[in-house]
Amino acid sequence: MNNCSSSTLCRRLEGKVALITGGASGIGESTARLFVRHGAKVAVADVQDDLGYSLCNNIISEYIHCDVSNESDVQNAVDTVISKHGKLDIFFSNAGILGNSYPSILSINYEDFKRVFDVNVYGAFLAAKHAARVMIPAKRGSIIFHSSVASVTFGHSPHTYTASKNALVGLTKSLCVELGGHGIRVNCVSPFAVATNLLRKAMGDVDKKTAEDLISESANLKGVVLEANNVSEAVLYLGSDESKYVSGLNLVLDGGYSTTNVALHEAKRNFFAS
Ligand SMILES: NC(=O)c1ccc[n+]([C@@H]2O[C@H](COP(=O)([O-])OP(=O)(O)OC[C@H]3O[C@@H](n4cnc5c(N)ncnc54)[C@H](O)[C@@H]3O)[C@@H](O)[C@H]2O)c1
Repeated sequence: MNNCSSSTLCRRLEGKVALITGGASGIGESTARLFVRHGAKVAVADVQDDLGYSLCNNIISEYIHCDVSNESDVQNAVDTVISKHGKLDIFFSNAGILGNSYPSILSINYEDFKRVFDVNVYGAFLAAKHAARVMIPAKRGSIIFHSSVASVTFGHSPHTYTASKNALVGLTKSLCVELGGHGIRVNCVSPFAVATNLLRKAMGDVDKKTAEDLISESANLKGVVLEANNVSEAVLYLGSDESKYVSGLNLVLDGGYSTTNVALHEAKRNFFAS
């Protein structure tokens, strides 16, 4: 429980320092803005330099060019934060790519597989390694990975993406054991679909409204749309002291989507419509 009245904005990250990869757009950008509003100093690491630097105007503390699949880039991002702020409390390893979508396992090639795993999985390993390097001596910290609803429901995302996001759940649980001994918490968030660039591109470059209509049609929870900011609120919880005893959690934000299986219902509907 916090002591904020509903009329005041409670600064739940006051005094904390956060690093967010993939923070130049989408859910990462929304999280950077929310963290700043809650009193954190926030550094963003991304490969979209124009977008990243534009956030430096009165929003984030610094933008750092960083390809998360390159160890010296990740090391440099963490070292830059330490030299500027003296500590790192929260590392949101958010950068991710969907990769190419193939109609069948028969078409998958190694180059595409490797790129998705380099960014989504190896990038998360590097984030954890360099976060741990500076959090272990401090005996505290919160590492948050960005998995996906593809970690709990299967068949609608590319195989490589699904495999990479499931790897992150394993990494979350495995690391929470090792790093728990150093006072460091490790969790991940797994949202349903959000109409960011990543998803709209996968849907064939549709506009935001069309993407949200399609998402709402398939959603279990009707009457609300999952937006980037809703995911950021969950990340805020995992980064704040309100979750001080939460570790090893895959926080699924899917409005109950993964509890359902509409296949029989759909088959019946199609059968009687034809
Ligand atoms: N949008 C969704 O429906 C959805 C659902 C579940 C999980 N996610 C996850 O959310 C995360 C953020 O995606 P988003 O939807 O905000 O899309 P997005 O494309 O807007 O954001 C992804 C960000 O990651 C950055 N990035 C990509 N490759 C990088 C690299 N090698 N190094 C550094 N930065 C890199 C991009 O430049 C971009 O700023 C991803 O991990 C994605 O898998 C998204």
